[in-house]
Amino acid sequence: MSRSESESESSSSLENKSCEIIKGINGLDKIILREIHGTTVEVYLYGAHVTSWKNDQGEELLFVSSKAVFKPPKAIRGGIPICFPQFSNLGSLEAHGFARCRLWSIDPDPPAFPPNVTNRAYVDLLLKPTEEDLKIWPHSFEYRLRVTLGPGGDLMLTSRVRNTNTDGKPFTFTFAYHTYFSVSDISEVRVEGLETLDYLDNLKNRERNTEQGDAITFESEIDKIYLSTPSKIAILDHEKKRTFVIRKDGLPDAVVWNPWDKKAKAMADFGDEEYKHMLCVEAAAIEKPITLKPGEEWKVRQELSAVPSSYCSGQLDPNKVLKGS
Ligand code: BG6
Repeated sequence: MSRSESESESSSSLENKSCEIIKGINGLDKIILREIHGTTVEVYLYGAHVTSWKNDQGEELLFVSSKAVFKPPKAIRGGIPICFPQFSNLGSLEAHGFARCRLWSIDPDPPAFPPNVTNRAYVDLLLKPTEEDLKIWPHSFEYRLRVTLGPGGDLMLTSRVRNTNTDGKPFTFTFAYHTYFSVSDISEVRVEGLETLDYLDNLKNRERNTEQGDAITFESEIDKIYLSTPSKIAILDHEKKRTFVIRKDGLPDAVVWNPWDKKAKAMADFGDEEYKHMLCVEAAAIEKPITLKPGEEWKVRQELSAVPSSYCSGQLDPNKVLKGS
């Protein structure tokens, strides 16, 4: 099936009510995706930043700080920042890379959907480096992000990074989908899927340690990079009776971050008490940086679902393979 045929089966980008572009905060362009049962997703072109994911009851599933600044060059605090071409603030590049602080465009040449895809609202975004970017990271690339809202309300992000260098040089990068989940009360939350894994502790100079055998719970600041994680991780919110399931493909690491009270107070764009209502679990590629030769493409995916907590814990299936794009 040709691209145009397969795409016409779906709710194509910016062509109908399932996807529209409007002005958001401070006049920044924002795309709204709508699914037939009422779930919605909002994505700012600034940073290709998902800032909202609401279920069919209109409940917000992502955390965005009440103090978030929607103004370049600051990254939006909350939602799903894209960390590229580096996670963290090692070296001369800005913290978590520049992709989250650049204006993306609607992709004029989006990748095709697999032929069996129907009833999805989606948008395809594109980032290419500016002359200024090339001065701080001298590599030519095309980063294509597809944000898709599935018929069951699942939120999927597919990233494709291509090396378009014409000088024959490879480039190397690290990456994270820095997802901020909204939780009722951090002390009532547990994360399953990371037990017994090795992690690098960002609070101890990336010292390597091994997690204990129980699900992870929270009573103080945490900033850990879990290594070689399973393709499925769950965040169980006891009070909300809700479980977030993160499925990921091609992203071996998972960062777990909550700033807790002291760091919360130190961040200008974060409320003092807001740490109680958020948790970042970030599908990432950090320990083993990705190297692409000219012409090579790297494709990874994260799929988020929110299910009632009748979901049984301990049922994580690390072998589940993601299908479709
Ligand atoms: C997390 C890092 O991913 O992001 C933390 O592990 C960092 O170390 C946090 O503090 C927030 O980063 P930023 O740049 O958005 O303030």
